[in-house]
Amino acid sequence: MRRKLVVGNWKMNGSIAKNKALLDNVISGVQHLRDSDYVVCVPYPYLAQVQSLAQGSNVAWGAQNLCANENAALTGAVSPHMLVDYGCSYVIVGHSERRMQSHETDDTAAARFNAAVSGGLTPIFCMGESKEERESDWTEYVVGRQLDSILRRFGADMVAKAVLAYEPLWAVGTDNPATPEQAQQVHKFIRNRIARCDKVVAKNVRILYGGSIQPANAAALFAMPDIDGGLVGRCSLDAKAFVDICRAADQYAIAA
Ligand code: 13P
Repeated sequence: MRRKLVVGNWKMNGSIAKNKALLDNVISGVQHLRDSDYVVCVPYPYLAQVQSLAQGSNVAWGAQNLCANENAALTGAVSPHMLVDYGCSYVIVGHSERRMQSHETDDTAAARFNAAVSGGLTPIFCMGESKEERESDWTEYVVGRQLDSILRRFGADMVAKAVLAYEPLWAVGTDNPATPEQAQQVHKFIRNRIARCDKVVAKNVRILYGGSIQPANAAALFAMPDIDGGLVGRCSLDAKAFVDICRAADQYAIAA
């Protein structure tokens, strides 16, 4: 059984004052929803605030990146145990914005993935192709390569401890979401590739879609058999929109 999961990725947004209003409204908006899981991934400086506001609620929290090392001379880096200290359960790994802007590679993303699992966090491992790659029919090659960077290196048992996210670059931060059918096709490809290694893990691992999810398209995406929820950017900064997306997930609560 796969419970739906909705994750808000605040990216580099927020302030102490705005976060409180946003989170209070998200927490009260989802408090009666029982059939899915809800998470916010926030900038590091706000982890303590989110911890104090969200603990005891049904909203979990996490970070947007982590360092692959523990306790080292790495100026500006944040280790897995520091995230655990602030009650994080999740951490995003290998987001396309980090792959593009911070020179994240398959290797560095895989190292962070490993560190997250070893540190007791659930990585949300992002994969996705660019517009040019899709137009050249390379989607499965690119997503397959990114998936293999963790699946072949660490095995299906490690993938079982993660959440996967398909985030096509051409849909992230645009008003051009993948259609439910386009997303489903890639999600199915991901699940089938995992099934070649381990059928049980493939059946149980959650695969989120990300890229211009809005209340208007969430239900149609979540109705797809291999889409287990969403990784939400801009709409996670608007409590009503985020709660509406969480409600859409609840509507399609359990996949077989
Ligand atoms: P948007 O929902 O703003 O397109 O962002 C998606 C995303 O990158 C979530 O990680």
